[in-house]
Amino acid sequence: MIITELTIIGGVDKDRVAEPVSEITVKNGEIISIVGPTGSGKSTFIADIEQLAQNDTPSGRRVLINRAAPDPDMRRDPRRKCIAQLSQNMHFLADMAVGEFLRMHAKSRGRSSDTLDHIVERTIGLANRLTGEPICEDEPLTILSGGQSRALMTADIAVISDSPIVLIDEIENAGIRKQEALKLLAGEGKIVVVVTHDPVLALMAKRRIVMKNGGVVGIIETTRKERGLCKSLVRMDNWMIALRETIRQGELVEGVRHFEPEHVGRVELKRTGAVFA
Ligand SMILES: Nc1ncnc2c1ncn2[C@@H]1O[C@H](COP(=O)(O)OP(=O)(O)OP(=O)(O)O)[C@@H](O)[C@H]1O
Ligand SMILES: [Mg+2]
Repeated sequence: MIITELTIIGGVDKDRVAEPVSEITVKNGEIISIVGPTGSGKSTFIADIEQLAQNDTPSGRRVLINRAAPDPDMRRDPRRKCIAQLSQNMHFLADMAVGEFLRMHAKSRGRSSDTLDHIVERTIGLANRLTGEPICEDEPLTILSGGQSRALMTADIAVISDSPIVLIDEIENAGIRKQEALKLLAGEGKIVVVVTHDPVLALMAKRRIVMKNGGVVGIIETTRKERGLCKSLVRMDNWMIALRETIRQGELVEGVRHFEPEHVGRVELKRTGAVFA
């Protein structure tokens, strides 16, 4: 089934008042962000999408796929699942090696056994682009750090789950390269819903959903001026990343220049840290 549209029909907020935005439709190829204060209902909103809610969750929202209520099988059968989620809190509990887990997951998603080695290699390779300390195939899942676990899940979603709808909850707190991760997860033609407090990620989206008190209170289209601002923010962010990396590597940062917007284009990342022009 090709998914072209995801629609969320409004329900109620925490006070049982109807949400002022009664319908949101996201088409394939769009990244939409969700913003709002802590506790405003962002994770609940994406949980409703993940469960394909049909007026059976506390918010009373309904989720439509291609303008129709989804086949109940889509909710029950994991092989028919069209949604992948990178959640806010996740840990691996399984007592198995990284490679073994990825093989098992790929098999359960119907991949043929002669492609498994390649899939495992590709997934770990991508994960290692997102994290500082590399992950190895024969390491047990349980010894991975928080950042490594999220990097592995991200790569798993991109390579193995490869679902048409991707839900992401606060990737900026994951300790991984967030912009790269978002681009990787967005892929071609997917519907991506990303909860974020990060201005760069929020402005990378074409629209952002604004939440308050458990309900959707507005949708903002990213303006041209905001897109311009986003470009400067990306440069500033890269400057911060480089700085952070230098500190992480245990080096001094006293030679680093102060941030000046006209210089940031020349900031470079070297393997071990930052170089500032
Ligand atoms: N529409 C709603 N109706 C009833 N309860 C709700 C609704 N939306 C959210 N809640 C409840 O409010 C609490 C906070 O919601 P949630 O965790 O989704 O917030 P959040 O915006 O993701 O917060 P954070 O930024 O801290 O992650 C939860 O206990 C959730 O069950
Ligand atoms: Mg949350």
